[in-house]
Amino acid sequence: MSSESSAEADTRFLHGQLPTDKELVLKVIPMPRDCNPSGDIFGGWVMAQVDMAGAVVPARYVGGRMATVAVNQFIFKQPVRVGDILSFFASVTRIGTTSITVQVEVFAESFRAQGRYFKVTEASLTYVALDEAGKPRPLERPPGAGK
Ligand SMILES: CC(C)(COP(=O)(O)OP(=O)(O)OC[C@H]1O[C@@H](n2cnc3c(N)ncnc32)[C@H](O)[C@@H]1OP(=O)(O)O)[C@@H](O)C(=O)NCCC(=O)NCCS
Repeated sequence: MSSESSAEADTRFLHGQLPTDKELVLKVIPMPRDCNPSGDIFGGWVMAQVDMAGAVVPARYVGGRMATVAVNQFIFKQPVRVGDILSFFASVTRIGTTSITVQVEVFAESFRAQGRYFKVTEASLTYVALDEAGKPRPLERPPGAGK
């Protein structure tokens, strides 16, 4: 787990607010195996978690096979450290004919002083519903999702 000192905790976790208009879709704690040579968490690991988290809401609309077609934007705002509790929030920003685009925001929470957060990453990803041949197919609508 992290060797984060309380002094570091004071500067890293500054009164961050969690979003209230997005859904919590994933929580995970990075481990030492997820680090880059500098000792921070490897960006590719964060991207993989964001891809998984972003797929949760689209899966309700797709109801079957789907694929990530685009990472429209990906911003690493702050480094992630071993032992941070990461919370992934998602919201739908566009529903197309065969695709759905999601905004994902990732917040780090102090492991030792829980309830203090800051945003580390934000991203926009697009997922496409696929048929058995791997071709785009029209989205299904979950109950209550509107048109
Ligand atoms: C996903 C795939 C089937 C789409 O094929 P395609 O011929 O580009 O399909 P289309 O041009 O008809 O586009 C399908 C949808 O994707 C959207 N799309 C395609 N390229 C896009 C891009 N660069 N950015 C955002 N959306 C895109 C289109 O707007 C369309 O959405 P809509 O129907 O809601 O308007 C194909 O690109 C593919 O198989 N890619 C590999 C997927 C993959 O391996 N992902 C990683 C592992 S999950």
